[in-house]
Amino acid sequence: MNELGRVGMTVSDVDPREELAGHAQRRGAHLAFLQMGDPSLSAELTRLSDAGATAIRLVGINTGPLAPGHSWLRRIAAHWWRERPGLKPEVLVADDLVANLAELDAALERVRPITGTEPGLTSSAWEEVGSHRHQVMICRGPRCTARGGVDAMRSMIMTMMEHNLGDADVLLVHTGCQFPCNQAPVISVQPDDVWYGGVDAPTAARIVTEHFVGGTPVESHRLPR
Ligand code: FES
Repeated sequence: MNELGRVGMTVSDVDPREELAGHAQRRGAHLAFLQMGDPSLSAELTRLSDAGATAIRLVGINTGPLAPGHSWLRRIAAHWWRERPGLKPEVLVADDLVANLAELDAALERVRPITGTEPGLTSSAWEEVGSHRHQVMICRGPRCTARGGVDAMRSMIMTMMEHNLGDADVLLVHTGCQFPCNQAPVISVQPDDVWYGGVDAPTAARIVTEHFVGGTPVESHRLPR
C-alpha cells in the first residue's frame, strides 16, 4: 500500500484545516501536522504503518510566511522511522515545501527516502532556557480564533520580522483560552503584565512598534488589571 501524506508545517496551517483536508481527501491523501494540529505527523505515520502501508510519501504544505526550516519535516519523519520497531514502511520526503496546492504534483517528482542517518531532535544549542525581553502569549482559544486571532498573529509576526525582532526580543507563545474571552482576540505580554483585547491586525502591528520596539504599551487596547 502506497500512501501520500501532506504535512502542515506551521501553526497557521492548522487554520485552513478543512480546506487542506478536503483537498487531501480528493487526492486519496492524508493530512497531518508538524505542530499543534491533530493528527501529528508521528501519529499519522503510526496509523498508516499499522494499517499496512509499505511506502509513504510526504509533502510539506506551507500556506504562510511562518514555516520552520524544511529540514524539520525530514527530521521528524526520520525520528519516527528510527523509533518504529519491527517492519517499517519506506518513507519518502519531498525536497521542497509546497506553498500552493497546484505545485503538489511537481513536488512529488522530487522525493528522497528517509535513511535513518538524518539529524535527531536535539541540539547542544537547545540545552538552556533562552533569555528574552518579552514573552507574548497569543490566544488561539476558540473565541479568539473565531474573532480574528489568526490575523492578529500573522500581523504581529510580519511586523516583528520587519523590525528584526527575534526570540531574544520576543518569545511568541500560542495558547488556549486565557479567560477574558469577551475581549477577543486577546494577547498578553509578560513580564510587563500587559493584557490587550480586541487586537485586530493593525493593533497587533502597533503593539510591536509601540510596545516591543518603543517600550510604551498601546493604551487604547489595554485591558484593566
Ligand atoms: S478564547 Fe481567547 S481568552 Fe478565551
